[in-house]
Amino acid sequence: MSSLLNDIEPLKQAALADLKAASDLGALEQAKGTWVGPHGKLTALMKQLGSLSKEERPAAGKAINAVKADLESALAQRRAELELKAAQPQHPVDFTLPGRRRTLGKLHPLTQVTDDIVRSFRKLGFAVADGPEIEDDYHCFDALNTPADHPARDTQDTFYLQPAGSADPLLLRTHTSSVQIRVMEKQPPPIRIVVPGRVYRRDNADATHNPTFHQIEGLYVDRDVTVGDLKGTVEFVFKDLLGSDVRIRFRPHYFSYTEPSFEIDFSSPLTRKMGKDWLEIAGCGMVHPQVFETVGYDPETWTGWAFGFGIERIAMIRYGINDIRLFYENDLRFLSQF
Ligand code: DAH
Repeated sequence: MSSLLNDIEPLKQAALADLKAASDLGALEQAKGTWVGPHGKLTALMKQLGSLSKEERPAAGKAINAVKADLESALAQRRAELELKAAQPQHPVDFTLPGRRRTLGKLHPLTQVTDDIVRSFRKLGFAVADGPEIEDDYHCFDALNTPADHPARDTQDTFYLQPAGSADPLLLRTHTSSVQIRVMEKQPPPIRIVVPGRVYRRDNADATHNPTFHQIEGLYVDRDVTVGDLKGTVEFVFKDLLGSDVRIRFRPHYFSYTEPSFEIDFSSPLTRKMGKDWLEIAGCGMVHPQVFETVGYDPETWTGWAFGFGIERIAMIRYGINDIRLFYENDLRFLSQF
């Protein structure tokens, strides 16, 4: 047997060991060059085939080709192993370390309070109604018995918009009371609704005022409705919301769309913590007959009451917040407390 045939097996073993020993992809490429590259040792062996005798050549050629195939598959296998290793993290993973927590989002405190107020009213059979924030003069004032020369308009002076070609000026609604009119225009009595929503006034921001704030309006229309129903309802909702030790007080007041009218004061351990015995939280009253006339309800048949609460005020009492502006700054240090 020629020396060439004798060389094949040891060369194969050496090549396989070399490929297996390559510790990264660079070393593997180098090993590939050493054995099967154009100047590799197996290639050199193939070049010697010509020097063999005619009888020896076929067997030797076959043997070399088999080795070449073996080396190529060993090369592919090692390459796959090394690629997998390269894709893995350099440092070992400690599976006992605590995971990275994703913080859960929450509802804004004003949304939470609004939802809770609505939930309390739902228990009494109130439905939620909605209306536009961009209102016309008529629904915001006139239909609520507040004509253009009425002094109450001054106290709610607001943001007017001038749409081209419109005679009736539009404005950002100053209160949710406009939705009372929109609902009564659309449906006959009886009515039992609450209307949470955003309102706008030309106020300067300070600890208790903001040009944008939120109200929840209520309207109840039926036969034989009394101030007693109003008081009972308000008391039920506030006890439900803020605890059974709250106290409610009605003070006579004036609103052009109710007669008689009241302001509602609220007292609880929470208000006393804020240094106040009583805090004003709402306006309310028995719906003025003129308002019923305007929407086409017969004031001889129908009676009702309405109210408007400030949602921020209730949230401030509930959480002991002393500056209304905190609600609008979106500071996570504040928001994450609720
Ligand atoms: N709209 C009044 C305000 O913004 C609050 C109010 C008072 C609403 C009396 C009412 C009501 O429905 O009957 O100050």
